[in-house]
Amino acid sequence: MTEMQTKTIMVLNGPNLNLLGSREPETYGNLTLSEIGSMLKQHAASHGLEIDFRQSNHEGTLVDWIQEAADSADGIVLNAAAYTHTSVAIRDAIAAINTPVIEVHLSNVFAREEFRHHSFVSDQAEGVICGFGATGYVLAIDAFASMLRVQS
Ligand code: DQA
Repeated sequence: MTEMQTKTIMVLNGPNLNLLGSREPETYGNLTLSEIGSMLKQHAASHGLEIDFRQSNHEGTLVDWIQEAADSADGIVLNAAAYTHTSVAIRDAIAAINTPVIEVHLSNVFAREEFRHHSFVSDQAEGVICGFGATGYVLAIDAFASMLRVQS
């Protein structure tokens, strides 16, 4: 019998998400990013998935990590935060790799300012989840578990 390798999902968080918990809690909720990361790790383990959870305030670092995920991850959950609405570089990085991406936003970006309605990521992504707070990350892991046909 061949041994199955554990599949890894890289979860990337963009600028200002390190401030979750204190940042506009009425919009982004009360959980800190590290609380979301711990919850997600536990949830992913129930699907037999591993999580590589990261945050950066820097566009180039996010581009580097997306490139790295091409070899080291089976999927990417991406909340590019404000870079969602501005970054051609992040879009191009996603287009350059074969690793599937699910775009997540805590808030419902379509119920907010018009500049948040456009995403450079969405048409490169497998799907988009927004408006469900931290639950959106959990739903993205569920989607990957089903896409990657991992036993739950
Ligand atoms: C966000 C939505 C973005 O418009 C915003 O710039 C963020 C967070 C969200 O998770 O709701 O920083 O990505």
